[in-house]
Amino acid sequence: MKFLRADSVVRIAVLIAAGAAIAACTETVYKDFPGFAPPPSGAGQYLGYSTTSTQVTTCGNCHASHQAAWLTAKHSKAWADLQASGHANSTCNACHTVNTWGNDTSSVAKNGYLGVADARYQDVQCENCHGPGQNHVNNAEVSANWPVPSIYVAVGVKTSCSACHTGEHEPFVEQWSCARCATIRMGVRISRSCACSPTRSRSRRTCARSATTAARCRIRHRTRARTHRKERS
Ligand code: HEC
Ligand code: HEC
Ligand code: HEC
Ligand code: HEC
Repeated sequence: MKFLRADSVVRIAVLIAAGAAIAACTETVYKDFPGFAPPPSGAGQYLGYSTTSTQVTTCGNCHASHQAAWLTAKHSKAWADLQASGHANSTCNACHTVNTWGNDTSSVAKNGYLGVADARYQDVQCENCHGPGQNHVNNAEVSANWPVPSIYVAVGVKTSCSACHTGEHEPFVEQWSCARCATIRMGVRISRSCACSPTRSRSRRTCARSATTAARCRIRHRTRARTHRKERS
């Protein structure tokens, strides 16, 4: 489907019989989202999964098409793949769980899984990019609370994709800085109109050191078929 503003926000219609005596009289009631388990203290305002066993994110209860798309993307496998690697340790968690990496504003990355090691915060979920959602979910229609993700991309920052797709393990930001605005290995297309001006170099390492110029670019999730596909084109 194209040009969906938000995605199909689920509203639960409940048909209530007004009573046996007046059987013909029915009324459609729109029931509010039944709610979410409040985040444990120490987790900040991150909501994580509402049903961990089936990987239903709290956000996905309403944003159903985003939930479906995300489930097919690698981000939803981040915890399982980490465990399966046989090399999991606590230093891996910042990039393989829900926390402030990807949406950091405070430089104190202790919320979400890093604050409370609860299974509801495993995997790279919506809030890794969108930030903590409690205020939004409490008053979903209030546009000031809409959790708009950061697309600020630079080496050494903990906002956006930069936070995790960086370093020796996954040098996406460094490669992107080298290659100018380009389609990089992961297949994520970044607009050519962005104003980055990195020093070109064949050596990744040299580039990573010299690419200090931050750029604000429009990121499109035009990934390989199996990853996060947006409704818009
Ligand atoms: C209770 C249902 C509900 C839940 C849960 C929910 N949202 Fe929303 N969300 C909405 C509604 C309703 C809107 C307003 C849509 C509109 O009016 O276009 C919205 C708007 C948004 C927008 C702005 C859409 C736009 O067009 O720019 C974003 C982004 C968003 N939500 C992300 C999230 C994230 C991330 C989560 C989880 C932390 C989440 N939502 C949880 C109902 C919900
Ligand atoms: C919190 C850390 C984190 C953030 C933030 C993050 N990612 Fe990821 N990303 C990961 C991890 C971990 C994986 C690997 C999951 C797996 O394969 O188990 C991954 C996988 C991917 C893949 C799949 C790679 C492949 O080879 O198929 C793409 C594409 C991707 N990310 C794009 C993005 C984009 C674009 C952004 C920003 C809008 C972003 N990611 C933000 C951690 C993150
Ligand atoms: C700085 C962030 C970061 C840290 C820390 C991190 N990862 Fe990752 N990891 C990523 C990203 C980003 C990807 C996606 C790369 C891709 O598939 O292109 C990924 C993908 C993976 C994958 C799946 C992809 C594959 O190669 O099969 C495994 C397994 C993995 N990481 C294991 C680990 C282990 C083990 C640790 C700790 C020793 C760790 N990661 C620490 C960011 C990180
Ligand atoms: C890897 C980072 C990342 C993850 C994970 C992610 N999003 Fe997004 N999302 C974005 C970015 C970046 C945009 C803005 C895209 C654009 O402007 O084209 C966006 C846009 C949105 C929008 C509003 C605009 C639109 O295209 O509909 C909603 C709603 C949304 N995401 C909900 C979700 C939900 C719900 C989840 C989890 C099931 C989720 N997102 C997971 C990065 C992410």
